[in-house]
Amino acid sequence: MSRSPATGRAFRKSVPYTLPKLTDFSPASLDKAVQDLLSALESESQSVSSENAAKEFRDRWVARKNGIQPQTADWLKTAPKEAKREVGQRVNEIKACVEATVEATQERIQGGSSAAALESERVDVTLPGIRRPLGAEHPVIRTLNETVAVFRAMGYSVAEGPEVETDYYNFEALNFPPNHPARDTQDTLVIADQENKPLRDRLLLRTHTSPVQIRTMEQTKPPIRIVCPGKVHRRDATDASHSPVFHQIEGLAVDTNITFSDLKGTLDHAMKALFGSSVKTRFFPSFFPFTEPSADVAISCIICGGKGCRTCKQTGWVELMGCGMVDPNVFEFVKDRGYDPAKISGFAFGMGVERLAMMKYGIDDIQMLFQGDVRFLEQFA
Ligand code: PHE
Repeated sequence: MSRSPATGRAFRKSVPYTLPKLTDFSPASLDKAVQDLLSALESESQSVSSENAAKEFRDRWVARKNGIQPQTADWLKTAPKEAKREVGQRVNEIKACVEATVEATQERIQGGSSAAALESERVDVTLPGIRRPLGAEHPVIRTLNETVAVFRAMGYSVAEGPEVETDYYNFEALNFPPNHPARDTQDTLVIADQENKPLRDRLLLRTHTSPVQIRTMEQTKPPIRIVCPGKVHRRDATDASHSPVFHQIEGLAVDTNITFSDLKGTLDHAMKALFGSSVKTRFFPSFFPFTEPSADVAISCIICGGKGCRTCKQTGWVELMGCGMVDPNVFEFVKDRGYDPAKISGFAFGMGVERLAMMKYGIDDIQMLFQGDVRFLEQFA
């Protein structure tokens, strides 16, 4: 008993519950002891409001050493023989109650804190997300793939060759002899400091995909049907229809009895497959050292339907490629690989992929294809 310093009145200080030692083991006294214990348990449980407090509460009541509940074993120990049964029952009840309350308290606290965690980690799914724009094939590459697919469907296979080429493959084996004026039509960049090499071994950026014709014939016996897509370079001034870097698709078919009508039929079919069945093809006489006869191929202008417009310079026709029958002089370079010009014949063609793409998509300036302007490119996504 203490006295209040303010009033001098006696009051009971709230002391934490401790397990009493029992001397009286009558049912009434046992009831009271159990009641006291359970009400202490209940009120302490209710005042627990944090995870730490819940831990302390658990230790205080159930710690194997000195926990209140384990101490009730003393009651049993000290009870006289005839009361042991009764005390044992109470002790078991207490154990069940304490364990249930400790568990419930812990759940209440943890439940509460995980609700807080949920709240703080909440994601507003209605917020706009991060846009990751999908990439798309560049119109040039798309046109290239589509064109290759048209020829694959006709039984052609795909061949490739290097972009840095030797003078031999780019010119000499294609019947452009050294110092021949036809070389002037395909000026390019050459790799520096090669004067000590023979001309045929000097490196340059290929001006067309035609060197792949020779490279493939060196490796493969006739008959062959190939297309060779790739990048080429020319010393051309940039304008609306020229770029120093562009793409070509080369074609080569060699077999017995290949004729100019095979060439016309093949290219006419390919153009119709790419541009629709109403497109017309037209062959103009032309010259390339590696084909004889040679032709330039034009298609009826897709933009104006052949009536005449700016893109076709009012002619109604747009030139897309060169072609011709493989010159016997070219076969001479690969004669020992089975290409005897007396026994076989073939045709070849080379088309500009940018030109095809411009026709396909109605693009009037080739530079658009190289500037990388997203506003232009995203129209193809
Ligand atoms: N290689 C030629 C050019 O780039 C095109 C061509 C290829 C012509 C095949 C005839 C045969 O202009």
